[in-house]
Amino acid sequence: MLVLGIESSCDETGIALYDMQAGLLGHALHSQVAMHEEYGGVVPELASRDHIRRALPLLQQVLDQSGKPLAAIDAIAYTQGPGLAGALLVGASVACGLALALDKPVLGVHHLEGHLLSPLLASDPPEFPFVALLVSGGHTQLMRVDGIGRYTLLGETLDDAAGEAFDKSAKLLGLGYPGGPAISRLAEFGNAGAYKLPRPMLHSKNLDFSFSGLKTAVLTLVKNHQTNICEQDKANIARAFVEAIVDVLTAKCLDALKQTGLKRLVIAGGVGANAQLRVALNAAAVKKRFRVFYPELEFCTDNGAMIAFAGAQRLARDPTAATRDYAFSVRPRWALEELVAV
Ligand code: KG4
Ligand code: ZN
Repeated sequence: MLVLGIESSCDETGIALYDMQAGLLGHALHSQVAMHEEYGGVVPELASRDHIRRALPLLQQVLDQSGKPLAAIDAIAYTQGPGLAGALLVGASVACGLALALDKPVLGVHHLEGHLLSPLLASDPPEFPFVALLVSGGHTQLMRVDGIGRYTLLGETLDDAAGEAFDKSAKLLGLGYPGGPAISRLAEFGNAGAYKLPRPMLHSKNLDFSFSGLKTAVLTLVKNHQTNICEQDKANIARAFVEAIVDVLTAKCLDALKQTGLKRLVIAGGVGANAQLRVALNAAAVKKRFRVFYPELEFCTDNGAMIAFAGAQRLARDPTAATRDYAFSVRPRWALEELVAV
C-alpha cells in the first residue's frame, strides 16, 4: 500500500510517499524560514499562502523521485492538527481535493504522532514500549508510548516549550529566526562557568517543565550589559542557556525512565536535532544503561515523511482509518491523548 503524506502545520511544506513494504520512496520539503526571518517569527497568513504555492510542485518532485504515477497512490494522509489553522487548511484541502479526484481515501494525522513515530523510520528503530521526549517549537512533553495511539502523558511544560525558549532567547541575543540552531552554534564558543542560569523545576519531583523563567534570566543578563554586549558575552550567555536547558531535559528523561522502569528513550521534534542535548543524552545512556533513539536529522524538524509513515501505521492496523468523506475539518488544538489506539 502506497501512502502520500502532506505536512503543512507551520512553516514547512513537506510531501512524502511511503510504501508499507518498500519503506520511504521519496520525500521533499520546502522551508519558509527565509521568508519569515525578516519578521522575527512565523507570519501565519504568509505561511498559508506559501503552502499553496509549494504543495503541488513538491508533490511532482516526490512522484519523479519515486518513479510512481499519481494513480499508484492508495491513500492520502495529511496533518489535521495541531498547528496554524490556515496552514493546516491548505494541506487538508490539497489532500482531500486530490483524493476526491483520484477516488482514494484520506486520513487526518496528528502532527505530534508523526514526530513521536519518526524514529521508527530510522534504520535501527526502537521497539515499544518506550519513553518519548517530544521537544518542538510548540510542545515539550514526556510520554510513555506502548503502541500506535497508546500514549500516556507523564509530564509537560507549564509555560514555554523548549524550542520556544531557544527561539526567544536567541532573539534576545540578536540571533535570527529560528533561534535553536543559531544559539546552539554560538554556545560552542562560550566559556564554561562565565554565567550560571537557573535550572527550572529540576527538583520538582514531577515530570513537568517550565522554561519561561530561563528566557527572563537571559533577558536580565542581556539588559545588564546595556548597549555594549560583545560577541564573547553573547557566546557565554548562549552557553549558559544551552547548558541549563540540556541539564533539565536530560534529568527529566532520566526521571521518566526511572519512574516507568523502561530502558528505551526516544527523542522527537526539532530540538531533538540539538547537538549538545544529544551529547548529554548519549553520555547518560552509557552511564545509566539505557538506549536512546533519534530520528534521522532531516526528520527531527517538520517533514512529510513522518506524516506518511504515521498514516501508514494506522492504516496497516485499521484499514477503515481512512475515509471517502472529503468534507474535511482541521484541529489547530488537539491533545495527543485524544487519539485512539489501533
Ligand atoms: O518540530 P519542529 O520543526 O516544529 C514544531 O512542530 O514546532 O521544531 C522547531 C523548533 C524550533 O523552535 C527550533 O528553534 C528548534 O526546533 N530547533 C532546535 C534545533 N533545530 C531546531 N533547537 C535547538 N537546537 C537545534 N539544533
Ligand atoms: Zn513539528
